[in-house]
Parts: sequence; structure tokens; C-alpha cells
Amino acid sequence: MAEETTAGGKLPPPPERLVRQEDAFAVERSDATPSLAETYWVNTKLYPPRVALAPDTDPVARANAEALAEGTAAMEARVVAGGKVYLTFPTVSLPKPRLPESASFVYAMHGRRTVRNFNLSAAVDLQTISSVLGYSYGWNPSRRRDYGGFKYAPSAGGLYPLEFYVVSMKVTGLKPHALYHYRPRGHLLEHLTSFGNRKISSLFVASPWIDDTGAVIFITGILPRLAWKYGERALRYLLLDAGHAAQNACLVAAALDIGICPVVGFFDDPVHDFLDVDGINEVVVYALIVGSPKGGCGNSGAGFEEENR
Ligand SMILES: Cc1cc2nc3c(=O)[nH]c(=O)nc-3n(C[C@H](O)[C@H](O)[C@H](O)COP(=O)(O)O)c2cc1C
Repeated sequence: MAEETTAGGKLPPPPERLVRQEDAFAVERSDATPSLAETYWVNTKLYPPRVALAPDTDPVARANAEALAEGTAAMEARVVAGGKVYLTFPTVSLPKPRLPESASFVYAMHGRRTVRNFNLSAAVDLQTISSVLGYSYGWNPSRRRDYGGFKYAPSAGGLYPLEFYVVSMKVTGLKPHALYHYRPRGHLLEHLTSFGNRKISSLFVASPWIDDTGAVIFITGILPRLAWKYGERALRYLLLDAGHAAQNACLVAAALDIGICPVVGFFDDPVHDFLDVDGINEVVVYALIVGSPKGGCGNSGAGFEEENR
């Protein structure tokens, strides 16, 4: 394996007493065992086929192609129907996602940053939540007839494995201390429960300030939506999908001058319990903390050339 180097030479070794985060949270293994990451990566590689099987001459290839077409049609029908739906729960219609005319793509790109310093007394408005959700995982009306791909974010195989949940702390137009699920079809929120005085920060490794921000958006992934087609490799795609959607959220927040902090430092099972998902078929992959940034987002609007001089 080629040794990793920086432009200035060899990378410095990590500090000797570094406690990696996963070690701190209980994994014990011997150095002789390949890491889970290595095992997973090696076992989910694709290789070029040694023999090209043509569906018109080979019965196995034909059966495979037919099963794939059938599975794709079934899954697409489900995706078009809108993913997970909580039918009997009260709903809140969201306003149309909107971005200010003045916020150019360039402005959003330059303004994208992680905000952790929030104005803890300010609420976030429903329009903001609507725009963040809509442009991350909502339906793009200009693509609605484009079967298989109709959201703002790309998705492996057009299978859309993600679900979004909104924890409202202070969002005008939503109940405080309430949990909602986002239904992209119809662009609405389903009110699942209210959680009273429970501290949301207890779900996170750090960041006690989370309790006083506007909202937390949890992104979960439903692996079986991909695994029937991609097998174990599906996990790679699910995480990539989440990255695409979350980046949209970050850019929308930047365009709106709203603070957003992408977070993975959460306790998985307490989050699963909180969302009432099983933690096996549906797992939490990402959290986005949304709030009003203290002192603004610091977007000077400076151009790339200016900043890279
Ligand atoms: C996958 C991922 C996970 C992250 N998790 C956390 C987190 O748990 N807590 C946190 O404060 N920031 C988290 N961040 C934000 C990063 O620390 C931040 O993006 C990085 O320091 C670069 O700063 P910038 O986003 O302002 O460019 C995460 C970012 C990514 C992409």
C-alpha cells in the first residue's frame, strides 16, 4: 500500500495516547483482526464479470434481469407513493420551499459552513424548515414525470432510502418539544409525539446547547430499500445518499443565512428509541442542528478568486 504523504512529506504519526472515538464507546479488538471497515470494504467490492452473460442467450442472466426489472418496478411504485407514511397522525402543511432571489448559488457555496454558535433565544420559522426539507428531500416539481428520479438530491438507483424527522424545539408554526416526520409527497409534517421537558441533548455525545436551538433534523436510512438490489454494498450507497441530501440542506441554510451543524456524534439506540424506529431496518445516519446563528453566518459574499489569492 502506498504510504500516505502530505505535500510537505510523510504524515505525522497520531498522538500516542489518542483514544479513538469508537474505542471510547466500547469496541475491543485485537490488532491481528482486520478492522470492520476493512472487512466491509473488501467484501463489498465489485469486480468486472469474468464471463459476460447475455440475457438473450443465458437463462440465469435472463432470470436475473427479469427479477431486477420486477424489483425495480415494485420499489419505484413504493417510492412514487412517497416512502414511509404515518397515516393516522395529525399533519401540518408546509409552505412551499423558497429561496431568496438575492441568494445566488455562488452566495450559498461561499456561505456554507458549520455553525455551532446559535442565538439561543431565537426561533426558526416554518418557512426555513420547509425550504431545508424541501430542497434536501422533497419532490422537485419540474421532474415529477421523470420516473425514477424526482428529487433535488440524487439517489443510488433512484430508490430514495432516507427518511427525515424534525424535532421542533422552537419553530414558529410547530409545537415546541415535538417530533414530526417529513412526508415528501404533499410536503407536510406528521406530528408523531410531544416529548415535554426531555432534553434532546441527552441523545448527543456533546453539545448541550442543542436543547436551545430551533430544530434538529434526524436523517434515517432504510437499508432494505437498497439491499434487495445491491446486497451488502447498499450501505455504501445509503450513506452517500445521506451526504447528498445533507449537503443540499447545508447549502439551503447558507442561502437563507441560517445556522446549521451536521452532527454524527449521537447515541444510536437512544435516538432509535426516540424516533420509534427499530434500529435494524431503519437506522439513524445523520443529524442536522438548525437555528438562528449568533452574529450572523459570516458570509462575506467574497468570490473564490478573492479568497484564494
Ligand atoms: C460526516 C460529518 C459529521 C460531522 N459531525 C459533527 C459532530 O458530531 N459535531 C460537530 O460539532 N460537527 C460535526 N461536523 C462538522 C465538522 O466538524 C465541520 O464540517 C468541519 O469542522 C469543517 O468545518 P465547516 O463545515 O465549517 O467547513 C460533521 C461534519 C461531517 C461532514
